[in-house]
Amino acid sequence: MDSLEEIKKNALNSIEKAADEEALKLLKIEYLGRSGNLTMILRGLKDMPEAERRVMGALANALRQELEGAFQNGEKNLGAIAKTAHFKQEKIDISLPGAKIPVGHLHPLTKIKKEVEEIFISLGFEVVEGPEMEREHYAFDALNMPKDHPAREMWDTLWLEPLKDRMLLRPQTSSVQIRYMEKHEPPFRIIAPGRVFRYEATDVSHDIQFHQVEGLVVGEDISVANLKHITLSFFRKLFGKDSQIRLRPSFFPFVEPGFEVDISCAQCQGRGCSVCKSSGWLEVMGAGMVHPNVFKAVGYNPKLWRGFAFGVGLDRLAMTKYKIPDIRFFSENDIRFLRQF
Ligand code: DAH
Repeated sequence: MDSLEEIKKNALNSIEKAADEEALKLLKIEYLGRSGNLTMILRGLKDMPEAERRVMGALANALRQELEGAFQNGEKNLGAIAKTAHFKQEKIDISLPGAKIPVGHLHPLTKIKKEVEEIFISLGFEVVEGPEMEREHYAFDALNMPKDHPAREMWDTLWLEPLKDRMLLRPQTSSVQIRYMEKHEPPFRIIAPGRVFRYEATDVSHDIQFHQVEGLVVGEDISVANLKHITLSFFRKLFGKDSQIRLRPSFFPFVEPGFEVDISCAQCQGRGCSVCKSSGWLEVMGAGMVHPNVFKAVGYNPKLWRGFAFGVGLDRLAMTKYKIPDIRFFSENDIRFLRQF
């Protein structure tokens, strides 16, 4: 059996020379493991005479402690060396381009909405909003469409459960006219942009949800001339100063007389193309003079006040302006579509 001195010399020597943590582990087993050199000596102590055992025991235990410390140091050193080696291998190429942070932007409908709002603000209008979930009173009754009136058929309405409260998803922004007039006195000019819903089979020009901008101007002597002037100014600011409009007689229960407003096709300057189906005109807006029954429903005196109202489809405007062929693209969330704006 080796002497304690020899064990110490060999152990410390080997620990110092150990190439890596694995080698150190094996050495530890060799010296301090269950059948290691030193362990054997410590085990043999019990067979020694008392006096010798005391001396040997103290020495052997001291050596055990010393070796444990040496192993600990060795482990620490090798660990540090391994780390440095790893860092040395890692290379940073500062000439590589940095990681791009994707930057979002506004949805085309938000863009057109902002543009429309700015134009109307410049024409002296205030922007107001109303709820998408609406009461029957605001969506129909107060707009001169009593219960069971066949004109309600013009809007394929999505009713909400429970039906006892007669709530619905508003099929048009015209309901905001009523909500505003209930709380304000004329004269005023407002627009109300927002989302509307229809129970509808979808195709390239129809969706179950789309967006409108409602307009309402009430004053003492408002006439169709004002309606024409404001709508023409609006379309010229949006589509260019050469735009023309025409009014065709139409029916909406909340106006009398009612009109369909067409704009000259910006694509072909009215000459006729596939966009305007060779007619030279695009149907973009419903409008008219506010019906006396609507004024009565909000407590205005129809003999005192006159007004005009209009409703324009935002999606249709964006499709015309940005040449978008399918209304459903707006809500599909296809990033390839959205990236183009
Ligand atoms: N709300 C109508 C629709 O959704 C559009 C409209 C027509 C609005 C005439 C008006 C109006 O304010 O006077 O079809």
